[in-house]
Amino acid sequence: MSAKTLLVVGSGPGIGRAVTTLFASKRYTNVVLIARRAESLAAEKAAVEQTVGPQLNVRTYAVDITDSAALGKALDDADAALGKPECVFFNAARVLPSALLEHDVKEIEYDFKITVSALYLLAQRYMPHLISLANTNTSSSSSSSSSSSPSSSPSPSTKPALLVTSSALPLEPIPQLFALSLTKAAQRNLVQSLHMTYAPKGVHVGVVHVAGGPVSPADPVWNPGNIAVRTWEWFEGRKGKFEVVI
Ligand SMILES: NC(=O)c1ccc[n+]([C@@H]2O[C@H](COP(=O)([O-])OP(=O)(O)OC[C@H]3O[C@@H](n4cnc5c(N)ncnc54)[C@H](OP(=O)(O)O)[C@@H]3O)[C@@H](O)[C@H]2O)c1
Repeated sequence: MSAKTLLVVGSGPGIGRAVTTLFASKRYTNVVLIARRAESLAAEKAAVEQTVGPQLNVRTYAVDITDSAALGKALDDADAALGKPECVFFNAARVLPSALLEHDVKEIEYDFKITVSALYLLAQRYMPHLISLANTNTSSSSSSSSSSSPSSSPSPSTKPALLVTSSALPLEPIPQLFALSLTKAAQRNLVQSLHMTYAPKGVHVGVVHVAGGPVSPADPVWNPGNIAVRTWEWFEGRKGKFEVVI
Protein backbone atom coordinates (compact mmCIF):
# COMPACT_ATOMS: atom_id res chain seq x y z
CA MET A 1 0.00 0.00 0.00
CA SER A 2 1.40 3.42 -0.92
CA ALA A 3 1.69 6.02 1.83
CA LYS A 4 -1.62 7.66 2.62
CA THR A 5 -2.05 10.66 4.88
CA LEU A 6 -4.97 11.50 7.14
CA LEU A 7 -5.19 15.14 8.23
CA VAL A 8 -7.16 15.71 11.44
CA VAL A 9 -8.03 19.32 12.13
CA GLY A 10 -9.32 19.56 15.70
CA SER A 11 -7.52 16.72 17.42
CA GLY A 12 -8.79 15.94 20.91
CA PRO A 13 -9.60 13.07 23.28
CA GLY A 14 -13.21 12.59 22.15
CA ILE A 15 -14.44 12.06 18.59
CA GLY A 16 -11.11 13.25 17.18
CA ARG A 17 -9.06 10.50 18.83
CA ALA A 18 -11.60 7.75 18.16
CA VAL A 19 -11.89 8.59 14.45
CA THR A 20 -8.14 9.05 14.08
CA THR A 21 -7.27 5.67 15.62
CA LEU A 22 -9.95 3.78 13.71
CA PHE A 23 -9.20 5.41 10.35
CA ALA A 24 -5.42 5.04 10.84
CA SER A 25 -5.75 1.37 11.79
CA LYS A 26 -7.88 0.71 8.70
CA ARG A 27 -6.09 2.67 5.99
CA TYR A 28 -3.50 5.37 6.67
CA THR A 29 0.27 5.27 7.12
CA ASN A 30 0.66 8.94 8.02
CA VAL A 31 -1.39 11.11 10.36
CA VAL A 32 -1.25 14.88 10.86
CA LEU A 33 -2.89 16.21 14.04
CA ILE A 34 -3.78 19.87 14.50
CA ALA A 35 -5.09 21.60 17.64
CA ARG A 36 -4.09 24.65 19.67
CA ARG A 37 -2.39 23.05 22.70
CA ALA A 38 0.96 21.33 22.23
CA GLU A 39 0.65 19.30 25.44
CA SER A 40 -2.76 17.92 24.43
CA LEU A 41 -1.41 17.07 20.99
CA ALA A 42 1.45 15.13 22.57
CA ALA A 43 -1.12 13.08 24.49
CA GLU A 44 -3.16 12.52 21.31
CA LYS A 45 -0.06 11.41 19.39
CA ALA A 46 0.89 8.96 22.14
CA ALA A 47 -2.65 7.57 22.35
CA VAL A 48 -2.96 7.06 18.61
CA GLU A 49 0.51 5.50 18.31
CA GLN A 50 -0.19 3.17 21.22
CA THR A 51 -3.44 1.93 19.68
CA VAL A 52 -2.39 1.71 16.04
CA GLY A 53 1.24 0.70 16.41
CA PRO A 54 4.78 2.01 15.83
CA GLN A 55 4.52 1.77 12.02
CA LEU A 56 2.30 4.89 12.01
CA ASN A 57 3.98 8.25 11.28
CA VAL A 58 2.30 10.95 13.37
CA ARG A 59 3.15 14.66 13.18
CA THR A 60 1.53 17.30 15.36
CA TYR A 61 1.15 21.03 14.77
CA ALA A 62 -0.01 23.32 17.57
CA VAL A 63 -1.90 26.11 15.85
CA ASP A 64 -5.11 28.06 16.28
CA ILE A 65 -6.83 27.47 12.95
CA THR A 66 -8.38 30.96 13.09
CA ASP A 67 -4.84 32.25 12.40
CA SER A 68 -4.79 31.62 8.66
CA ALA A 69 -1.09 32.43 8.23
CA ALA A 70 -0.08 30.04 11.02
CA LEU A 71 -2.43 27.38 9.65
CA GLY A 72 -0.93 27.75 6.17
CA LYS A 73 2.61 27.44 7.55
CA ALA A 74 1.70 24.31 9.54
CA LEU A 75 0.10 22.73 6.48
CA ASP A 76 3.13 23.59 4.33
CA ASP A 77 5.33 21.79 6.87
CA ALA A 78 2.95 18.83 7.15
CA ASP A 79 2.65 18.44 3.36
CA ALA A 80 6.43 18.55 3.00
CA ALA A 81 6.93 15.98 5.77
CA LEU A 82 4.18 13.47 4.98
CA GLY A 83 2.60 14.39 1.66
CA LYS A 84 -0.77 16.00 1.00
CA PRO A 85 -3.71 14.24 2.65
CA GLU A 86 -5.98 11.73 1.01
CA CYS A 87 -8.54 12.41 3.73
CA VAL A 88 -9.19 15.68 5.58
CA PHE A 89 -11.18 15.17 8.77
CA PHE A 90 -12.42 18.54 10.07
CA ASN A 91 -13.43 18.26 13.72
CA ALA A 92 -12.58 21.59 15.39
CA ALA A 93 -15.33 23.45 17.23
CA ARG A 94 -15.76 25.59 20.32
CA VAL A 95 -18.66 24.40 22.47
CA LEU A 96 -19.43 27.40 24.64
CA PRO A 97 -22.69 28.87 25.99
CA SER A 98 -23.65 32.07 24.16
CA ALA A 99 -26.48 34.16 25.61
CA LEU A 100 -28.60 35.60 22.83
CA LEU A 101 -28.07 39.38 22.41
CA GLU A 102 -25.58 39.46 25.30
CA HIS A 103 -22.80 37.57 23.54
CA ASP A 104 -20.05 39.79 22.09
CA VAL A 105 -20.16 39.86 18.29
CA LYS A 106 -16.39 39.25 18.26
CA GLU A 107 -17.04 35.86 19.84
CA ILE A 108 -19.47 34.97 17.04
CA GLU A 109 -16.86 36.03 14.51
CA TYR A 110 -14.24 33.85 16.24
CA ASP A 111 -16.56 30.82 16.08
CA PHE A 112 -17.22 31.59 12.40
CA LYS A 113 -13.47 31.62 11.73
CA ILE A 114 -13.06 28.18 13.35
CA THR A 115 -16.11 26.55 11.85
CA VAL A 116 -16.35 28.12 8.40
CA SER A 117 -13.30 30.22 7.41
CA ALA A 118 -10.72 27.59 8.37
CA LEU A 119 -12.72 24.88 6.63
CA TYR A 120 -12.99 27.07 3.53
CA LEU A 121 -9.20 27.58 3.50
CA LEU A 122 -8.64 23.84 3.81
CA ALA A 123 -11.03 23.15 0.95
CA GLN A 124 -9.33 25.80 -1.21
CA ARG A 125 -5.96 24.30 -0.47
CA TYR A 126 -6.68 20.59 -0.83
CA MET A 127 -9.61 20.21 -3.25
CA PRO A 128 -7.39 20.29 -6.38
CA HIS A 129 -5.28 17.49 -4.90
CA LEU A 130 -8.36 15.47 -3.89
CA ILE A 131 -9.78 15.83 -7.41
CA SER A 132 -6.48 14.68 -8.91
CA LEU A 133 -6.61 11.59 -6.66
CA ALA A 134 -10.17 10.94 -7.79
CA ASN A 135 -9.03 11.21 -11.42
CA THR A 136 -6.50 8.43 -10.88
CA ASN A 137 -9.44 6.17 -9.93
CA THR A 138 -11.27 7.07 -13.13
CA SER A 139 -8.28 6.40 -15.36
CA SER A 140 -7.37 3.10 -13.65
CA SER A 141 -10.99 1.85 -13.73
CA SER A 142 -11.39 2.73 -17.43
CA SER A 143 -8.14 0.92 -18.30
CA SER A 144 -9.10 -2.13 -16.19
CA SER A 145 -12.68 -2.19 -17.57
CA SER A 146 -11.35 -3.04 -21.02
CA SER A 147 -9.88 -6.27 -19.67
CA SER A 148 -12.47 -7.25 -17.03
CA SER A 149 -16.07 -8.32 -17.28
CA PRO A 150 -18.72 -5.54 -17.45
CA SER A 151 -20.17 -6.62 -14.11
CA SER A 152 -16.89 -6.29 -12.21
CA SER A 153 -16.56 -3.04 -10.32
CA PRO A 154 -13.09 -2.59 -8.83
CA SER A 155 -12.98 -0.68 -5.58
CA PRO A 156 -11.20 2.65 -6.03
CA SER A 157 -7.54 2.66 -5.06
CA THR A 158 -7.81 6.17 -3.64
CA LYS A 159 -10.56 7.50 -1.40
CA PRO A 160 -10.22 11.28 -1.51
CA ALA A 161 -12.41 12.83 1.17
CA LEU A 162 -13.28 15.94 3.15
CA LEU A 163 -15.35 14.88 6.18
CA VAL A 164 -16.77 17.32 8.75
CA THR A 165 -18.25 16.67 12.20
CA SER A 166 -21.33 18.52 13.33
CA SER A 167 -24.44 18.10 15.46
CA ALA A 168 -28.19 18.69 15.40
CA LEU A 169 -27.60 22.44 15.75
CA PRO A 170 -27.61 23.39 12.03
CA LEU A 171 -31.28 22.41 11.77
CA GLU A 172 -32.33 22.69 15.42
CA PRO A 173 -30.67 25.73 17.00
CA ILE A 174 -30.44 26.01 20.77
CA PRO A 175 -30.80 29.70 21.75
CA GLN A 176 -28.38 29.24 24.67
CA LEU A 177 -25.83 28.00 22.11
CA PHE A 178 -26.91 30.31 19.31
CA ALA A 179 -23.36 31.23 18.19
CA LEU A 180 -22.40 27.59 17.68
CA SER A 181 -25.82 26.89 16.16
CA LEU A 182 -25.55 29.57 13.51
CA THR A 183 -21.93 28.91 12.61
CA LYS A 184 -22.65 25.17 12.35
CA ALA A 185 -25.60 26.01 10.06
CA ALA A 186 -23.29 28.08 7.86
CA GLN A 187 -20.75 25.27 7.89
CA ARG A 188 -23.34 22.70 6.75
CA ASN A 189 -24.33 25.06 3.95
CA LEU A 190 -20.70 25.40 2.81
CA VAL A 191 -20.16 21.63 2.91
CA GLN A 192 -23.36 21.14 0.91
CA SER A 193 -22.06 23.43 -1.83
CA LEU A 194 -18.73 21.58 -1.79
CA HIS A 195 -20.57 18.26 -1.98
CA MET A 196 -22.76 19.40 -4.89
CA THR A 197 -19.70 20.59 -6.80
CA TYR A 198 -17.05 17.97 -6.01
CA ALA A 199 -18.87 14.73 -5.19
CA PRO A 200 -19.64 14.31 -8.92
CA LYS A 201 -15.88 14.61 -9.50
CA GLY A 202 -15.23 11.69 -7.16
CA VAL A 203 -14.43 13.44 -3.86
CA HIS A 204 -16.36 12.25 -0.81
CA VAL A 205 -17.52 15.48 0.87
CA GLY A 206 -20.00 15.42 3.72
CA VAL A 207 -21.07 15.95 7.30
CA VAL A 208 -21.41 13.57 10.25
CA HIS A 209 -24.14 14.91 12.54
CA VAL A 210 -23.74 13.73 16.12
CA ALA A 211 -27.27 14.59 17.04
CA GLY A 212 -27.94 13.03 20.43
CA GLY A 213 -26.59 15.68 22.78
CA PRO A 214 -23.31 15.49 24.70
CA VAL A 215 -20.89 12.77 23.67
CA SER A 216 -19.90 10.50 26.55
CA PRO A 217 -17.83 7.31 26.77
CA ALA A 218 -20.66 5.85 28.90
CA ASP A 219 -23.41 6.46 26.36
CA PRO A 220 -24.37 3.31 24.40
CA VAL A 221 -24.79 5.27 21.12
CA TRP A 222 -23.18 8.70 21.42
CA ASN A 223 -19.77 7.52 22.58
CA PRO A 224 -16.62 8.32 20.59
CA GLY A 225 -15.94 4.70 19.61
CA ASN A 226 -19.38 4.13 18.13
CA ILE A 227 -19.31 7.52 16.38
CA ALA A 228 -15.98 6.53 14.81
CA VAL A 229 -17.39 3.17 13.63
CA ARG A 230 -20.44 4.86 12.08
CA THR A 231 -18.21 7.48 10.45
CA TRP A 232 -15.98 4.76 8.97
CA GLU A 233 -19.00 2.83 7.64
CA TRP A 234 -20.31 5.97 5.95
CA PHE A 235 -16.87 6.79 4.53
CA GLU A 236 -16.17 3.24 3.40
CA GLY A 237 -19.61 2.85 1.81
CA ARG A 238 -18.95 5.94 -0.39
CA LYS A 239 -22.49 5.92 -1.71
CA GLY A 240 -22.33 9.64 -2.37
CA LYS A 241 -24.47 10.45 0.65
CA PHE A 242 -23.96 14.04 1.79
CA GLU A 243 -24.67 13.51 5.47
CA VAL A 244 -25.13 10.87 8.09
CA VAL A 245 -26.99 11.35 11.37
CA ILE A 246 -25.87 9.45 14.46
N1 LIG B 1 -18.64 16.67 22.40
C1 LIG B 1 -19.95 16.66 22.15
O1 LIG B 1 -20.78 16.45 23.04
C2 LIG B 1 -20.43 16.86 20.76
C3 LIG B 1 -21.79 16.66 20.46
C4 LIG B 1 -22.23 16.81 19.16
C5 LIG B 1 -21.32 17.19 18.17
N2 LIG B 1 -20.00 17.40 18.49
C6 LIG B 1 -19.08 17.80 17.43
O2 LIG B 1 -17.91 16.97 17.48
C7 LIG B 1 -16.77 17.74 17.10
C8 LIG B 1 -15.74 17.75 18.21
O3 LIG B 1 -15.63 16.49 18.82
P1 LIG B 1 -15.38 16.40 20.41
O4 LIG B 1 -16.31 17.33 21.09
O5 LIG B 1 -15.40 14.98 20.79
O6 LIG B 1 -13.93 17.03 20.59
P2 LIG B 1 -12.50 16.33 20.46
O7 LIG B 1 -12.48 15.45 19.29
O8 LIG B 1 -12.13 15.74 21.79
O9 LIG B 1 -11.53 17.59 20.25
C9 LIG B 1 -11.73 18.61 19.30
C10 LIG B 1 -10.51 19.51 19.40
O10 LIG B 1 -10.63 20.64 18.52
C11 LIG B 1 -9.61 21.54 18.93
N3 LIG B 1 -9.91 22.91 18.56
C12 LIG B 1 -10.95 23.68 18.99
N4 LIG B 1 -10.82 24.93 18.52
C13 LIG B 1 -9.69 24.95 17.78
C14 LIG B 1 -9.01 25.97 17.07
N5 LIG B 1 -9.44 27.23 17.04
N6 LIG B 1 -7.86 25.65 16.43
C15 LIG B 1 -7.38 24.37 16.47
N7 LIG B 1 -7.98 23.37 17.14
C16 LIG B 1 -9.12 23.66 17.79
C17 LIG B 1 -9.54 21.42 20.47
O11 LIG B 1 -8.19 21.27 20.91
P3 LIG B 1 -7.41 22.57 21.51
O12 LIG B 1 -8.26 23.07 22.62
O13 LIG B 1 -6.08 22.05 21.95
O14 LIG B 1 -7.30 23.52 20.38
C18 LIG B 1 -10.31 20.14 20.77
O15 LIG B 1 -9.61 19.28 21.64
C19 LIG B 1 -17.29 19.14 16.78
O16 LIG B 1 -17.58 19.24 15.41
C20 LIG B 1 -18.55 19.22 17.61
O17 LIG B 1 -19.44 20.18 17.11
C21 LIG B 1 -19.54 17.24 19.74
